[in-house]
Amino acid sequence: MRTLVIGTGGREHALARALSRDPGVEEVHAAPGNPGMATVATCHDVDPMSGDGVAALAEKLGADLVVIGPEAPLVAGVADAVRQRGIACFGPSREAAELEGSKAFAKHVMAAAGVPTAAARVCTTRAEAEQALAELGAPYVVKDDGLAAGKGVVVTDDLETAIAHAVACERVVIEEYLDGPEVSLFAITDGTTVRPLQPAQDFKRIHDGDQGPNTGGMGAYTPLTWAPPGLVEEVTRDVLQPTVDEMARRGTPFAGLLYAGLALTRRGVRVVEFNARFGDPETQALLALLDSPISPLLHGAATGSLAEVPPPTWRSGAAVAVVMASRGYPETSSNGDVVTGVEAAESLDGVHVIHAGTALRDGDLVTAGGRVLAVVATGADVATARETAYAGVAALDFEGAQHRTDIARRLPSSPTVQEPTP
Ligand code: AMP
Ligand code: GLY
Repeated sequence: MRTLVIGTGGREHALARALSRDPGVEEVHAAPGNPGMATVATCHDVDPMSGDGVAALAEKLGADLVVIGPEAPLVAGVADAVRQRGIACFGPSREAAELEGSKAFAKHVMAAAGVPTAAARVCTTRAEAEQALAELGAPYVVKDDGLAAGKGVVVTDDLETAIAHAVACERVVIEEYLDGPEVSLFAITDGTTVRPLQPAQDFKRIHDGDQGPNTGGMGAYTPLTWAPPGLVEEVTRDVLQPTVDEMARRGTPFAGLLYAGLALTRRGVRVVEFNARFGDPETQALLALLDSPISPLLHGAATGSLAEVPPPTWRSGAAVAVVMASRGYPETSSNGDVVTGVEAAESLDGVHVIHAGTALRDGDLVTAGGRVLAVVATGADVATARETAYAGVAALDFEGAQHRTDIARRLPSSPTVQEPTP
């Protein structure tokens, strides 16, 4: 199979790497790619937001499968443009990607499908926002309706901060606060059949102890040894399958990767958000443990034949990914600082480095964005993988590098679900 991965981030590097190790894949191409992807794929210069550009490249390469990594091209309909040329494409249509593109739309779908989620109000004026905040109470959760690269959500006890965020956005979703450990559960789907992956956990805040602003994700690990037994089955039954069925019922089937961001509250599982693509950096950890080849799953989802593909299998042990971000992230980011130590990190047993915001300048690897790279380590258990990942981090360096020191350090305990009092 000839494959083409669209995107430049860590998720796309991890996908290209998995495809390059898949015995069913002869060629891996990437566009635009990054210096890490260039070690496992042939990179091409194409604007990922251009449906015509991506489709033309796929046609020229004779690609059998195009994988669209990031949300922005999906929401812009790039997968539709590829499919129009008769090429199999992993990633939802423009209409189905609205599950991520609009938080208000996602709330409507969840309501129609009976999927448990936080109570919410959609607000477009200051008065509406003030009323919703008063009704739902503190802590306040205010979400920009549109795409914001994981940075559009403000969770705060301060009413003025909450109002200011609501006013700064055109349209916001104001939500009930969900208390409890968060889980990312991804499912590969062809619009009918749902194949859940192993749960993972992401660390969204920039600083240790979940302090500071939200980011795209500063680290991840899998599996979740503390999660309640039966979680995957429960979420598949109550969240993933009903959502996929509801999208099909609307005539806009969702085929691709359905990302359920969940909170395990004392009242049960609740959806925090949906995304329409693989999570970053959870994917880096997950694909490090995926034992079965990835191409049959992606191709099955892209061609409506996922029911014929066996469910994924996982290696025992654990994987931990620690993100190294550049100076100023998440408010800003910096470019051009020389990155050293990739080879040294990768010489450690069980470690590989996934590139996200990197570039080559005069033969040097330099920073080129907020999240620069992720150090991924596997090990017999989470603690071992974590220790190895941090040994990798210690080998790497660039001016202004930031990373959390507590990824996968303190694992949550499984919440006890309380039955609602009648
Ligand atoms: P989202 O972009 O919707 O995933 O939100 C980003 C992060 O904000 C989530 O991963 C949570 O940590 C936090 N968050 C979002 N919604 C809620 C909520 N209803 N209650 C508590 N925290 C939330
Ligand atoms: N890790 C969070 C996300 O990909 O949205």
